[in-house]
Amino acid sequence: MSKRQLAMVMDLNKCIGCQTCTVACKVQWTNRNGRDYMYWNNVETAPGKGYPKNWQESGGGWEGSVLKDGKIPSLANDYGMPVQLNYEQALFAGTDPWLKATNDPAWTPNWDEDEGAGEFPNSYHFYLPRICNHCTNPACLAACPRGAIYKREEDGIVLVDQSRCRGYRHCVVACPYKKVYFNPLFNRSEKCIFCYPRVEQGIPPACAKQCVGRIRHVGFLDDEAGPVHKIVVKWKAALTLRPDFGTEPNAYYVPPLSSPKFDAEGKPTAEPRIPVAFLEKLFGPRVGEVLGLLEAERSKKARGEESELMDLLIAYRQEEMFKIR
Ligand code: SF4
Ligand code: SF4
Ligand code: F3S
Repeated sequence: MSKRQLAMVMDLNKCIGCQTCTVACKVQWTNRNGRDYMYWNNVETAPGKGYPKNWQESGGGWEGSVLKDGKIPSLANDYGMPVQLNYEQALFAGTDPWLKATNDPAWTPNWDEDEGAGEFPNSYHFYLPRICNHCTNPACLAACPRGAIYKREEDGIVLVDQSRCRGYRHCVVACPYKKVYFNPLFNRSEKCIFCYPRVEQGIPPACAKQCVGRIRHVGFLDDEAGPVHKIVVKWKAALTLRPDFGTEPNAYYVPPLSSPKFDAEGKPTAEPRIPVAFLEKLFGPRVGEVLGLLEAERSKKARGEESELMDLLIAYRQEEMFKIR
């Protein structure tokens, strides 16, 4: 158990799927040395297969107090091979006038981006950014026979001790979110580190700081003055992803409100386009209650009344989104 827990809240009503967070993380941590295929932060389209492909059906997590079996995603089929482009020929040698793919992968990260589900004009999708959840009951940690994964006392960040890890990959099997990645070059596993070297200097994680949609709040769950405590504990307006996996995640989501469905004459109905059952599968049974709360607070704000929750989620000043000390 940690003394305190740092957590992130992501407001799915504001994510525009721009991948700035993904790039911020990749440039900082995973663009070389066996990490090229890894996305410690990824943003996938929901509904969709996600990254790695079908991670929600990949096993792992807890069944009561027992670890569930799972699988190690394959590089070519599940994580997906990157598209290689003819940069040299098109941009430097001038031997090809077009920038185009030189390989033909069958699957890449975000292969099904923006596809979503539903029939036009009632099709729907939203973006789901994902990091390691720095879980309170981390399956990755429990699965490692080397004791190489630990949870920091001071902030609950879950890390892989690179000097202890021997590349057994039980952690990859056990994480139901598939957020531990095997580095074949070093024969070690690696994962999102919640940017702890930045956090220790009072700087927010790169994915959160660079987020142009201002969807990511970072703070300690027990810090009553911080945005995370207010959204998660005081307002109870954020939920964890797949709570049924049993790992008690510390990444929280404000669930997405939905446009109304159109009827055959093109008139809006009272039915939401995103099925509540789909959201309940992702975020648990409280989702309808939270969506009701968001709608009520949004209406207040629209009438010109005060709403602390809406002010927090609008995030007028970026610096107020982070309280990590
Ligand atoms: Fe471990 Fe996965 Fe939880 Fe991260 S999300 S702490 S890798 S179980
Ligand atoms: Fe990447 Fe840091 Fe965000 Fe983790 S917290 S996903 S390491 S940018
Ligand atoms: Fe343990 Fe995972 Fe390394 S199981 S040894 S932390 S690859």
